[in-house]
Amino acid sequence: MTRILAIETSCDETGVAVMSLEGDTITVQAEVLASQIDIHKETGGVVPEVAAREHVKVLPVLVKKVLADAGIANPKEELNAIAVTFGPGLMPALAIGVQMARTLAFAWDKPVIPVHHLEGHIVSALLGSQDTTYALPQNDVFPALGLIVSGGHTMLVHVSDMLSYKILGQTKDDAAGEVFDKVARMLELPYPGGPHVSKLAAVGNRKAFPFPRPMAHSGDLAFSFSGLKTAVLYTLRDNPIAKKEDVAASFEAAVIDSLVGKTKQALQTNAYKTLLLSGGVAANTYLREQLATLAQDEQIPLNVAPLALCGDNGVMIGQAGLLALQNRRIVSWKDVAPKARVALGA
Ligand code: KG4
Ligand code: ZN
Repeated sequence: MTRILAIETSCDETGVAVMSLEGDTITVQAEVLASQIDIHKETGGVVPEVAAREHVKVLPVLVKKVLADAGIANPKEELNAIAVTFGPGLMPALAIGVQMARTLAFAWDKPVIPVHHLEGHIVSALLGSQDTTYALPQNDVFPALGLIVSGGHTMLVHVSDMLSYKILGQTKDDAAGEVFDKVARMLELPYPGGPHVSKLAAVGNRKAFPFPRPMAHSGDLAFSFSGLKTAVLYTLRDNPIAKKEDVAASFEAAVIDSLVGKTKQALQTNAYKTLLLSGGVAANTYLREQLATLAQDEQIPLNVAPLALCGDNGVMIGQAGLLALQNRRIVSWKDVAPKARVALGA
């Protein structure tokens, strides 16, 4: 059995997990997630230094807790490696997780598995939605097409093999989650706005406002959401009596149409065997429904990250970490450094 500690601190969630791989089965032995949402609500967004200070406060406590919960008394003997998100993300926040991983790896004489944050999101969809155990993916799921939609990223990824990725297209400006959060602010909804906009949209008219579907005919697989954001702003300014639920519903329809439309286009570029959906916005019910309809029409199996793993968490870093360890993708504690911006597969 191989067993690792996994750490995620790239944004506003502190996630830690102890995960194992035995035969073909990955098991979550213990996990803990501390959200900073209540702290960032006051500023309406994440202030990087505030996030980092919070990670400093809770990370040692959480590491101690998961080790105890997993029944690990002697980490030096019982762990094989330490996985950590090295980027992309908020530099001060990433640095706390990476420094913790480096320190523990030095003290316990273990290798570090640097995990790209988006790799964690992709693998959480790849492994599917069982509770705490996951079967390793078989070769017949590749090539897979991944749609990753979060607060910081919106992209379509060609996944040719377990740890091989190529970005097919991504947003030219705002990420899908980011635009949900900005529109939420315009509608005077709390942070993070995605779930609130989505709740309001469920009771609104999706056809009330003909918002643009940006880049629909661009011929490539890029996204753009800043024009849509401006259209919502002008609509609210020019229609003071517009029903908020209709604006939310029409906005949500425009974002999801754009995501689903480009995914449909990407499916035409290759004989994909599986479609993957993950990232914070993958928690969106309308997106899940629309992508399921597309998958059915295109007759392709759809793997959606389980709801609990859509947002940032330590389990997804452990999942990707175990796959990477299997491939001997490890480094010395001396050679891991946080990177605010780093391309997937770089
Ligand atoms: O993956 P994530 O937790 O963090 C990043 O890596 O960015 O994604 C957070 C984003 C936020 O922008 C949040 O508003 C959005 O995911 N989100 C949603 C929903 N739940 C979370 N957006 C739309 N509908 C939702 N139900
Ligand atoms: Zn994320």
